[in-house]
Amino acid sequence: MKILAAELAASVADPAGAPAQGLPEIAFLGRSNVGKSSLLNRLMARRQLARTSQTPGKTRLLHFYRVDRGDRGSCLLVDLPGYGWARVSRRERGRWRRMVEGYLQGRRPLRAVVLLHDLRRDPGPDEVDLLAWLDQRQIPALVALTKLDKLKAGPRARRVAALGGCLPVQADWIVPTSARTGAGVERLWELLDRLL
Ligand code: GTP
Ligand code: MG
Repeated sequence: MKILAAELAASVADPAGAPAQGLPEIAFLGRSNVGKSSLLNRLMARRQLARTSQTPGKTRLLHFYRVDRGDRGSCLLVDLPGYGWARVSRRERGRWRRMVEGYLQGRRPLRAVVLLHDLRRDPGPDEVDLLAWLDQRQIPALVALTKLDKLKAGPRARRVAALGGCLPVQADWIVPTSARTGAGVERLWELLDRLL
């Protein structure tokens, strides 16, 4: 995918303040530290547009990035705050839920959600519940398996096969990716392009 321009359009805490530009939108969701901001930078072909960090829970606002793909049109990519980081209060968790669910439920331009999942982990109730929640609301969901580069070819293929068997998503909507090497990024764009 050719990216002509990418920029931060807005960062908001309240979904009601999300940009209204009539552009179709894809949201990125996943456990804190799973690599959302890193994969977004790859998709946008920008080094550090989305802030990444080794400290989980860095992204606590909804960040909207406007991406111009030339004759394929423009869209917004949304970096949502990660869930499941350690040492957060119940109050903080409630705040996360209200913010993210409020956004996902009320957002008309939303075309799909990409759920990111670390290739090395087994999916937990967070991932399974989220996929069911999206399915109930008829929001299309893809899964991007992240940090592919962390495993060697053999174990990597075994993990991809195992996760394909336990995630409730059709197999060709599960895309193994690496923000480090760029693996899977073109494939992810191809799928997103169909939904945009
Ligand atoms: P929050 O904003 O806290 O929810 O985290 P995030 O999901 O946005 O993760 P982020 O992109 O900030 O990445 C977290 C850490 O994982 C950083 O240290 C990244 O460098 C690292 N990381 C992300 N993607 C990859 C990848 O594909 N391969 C490797 N090896 N490391 C990665
Ligand atoms: Mg982030």
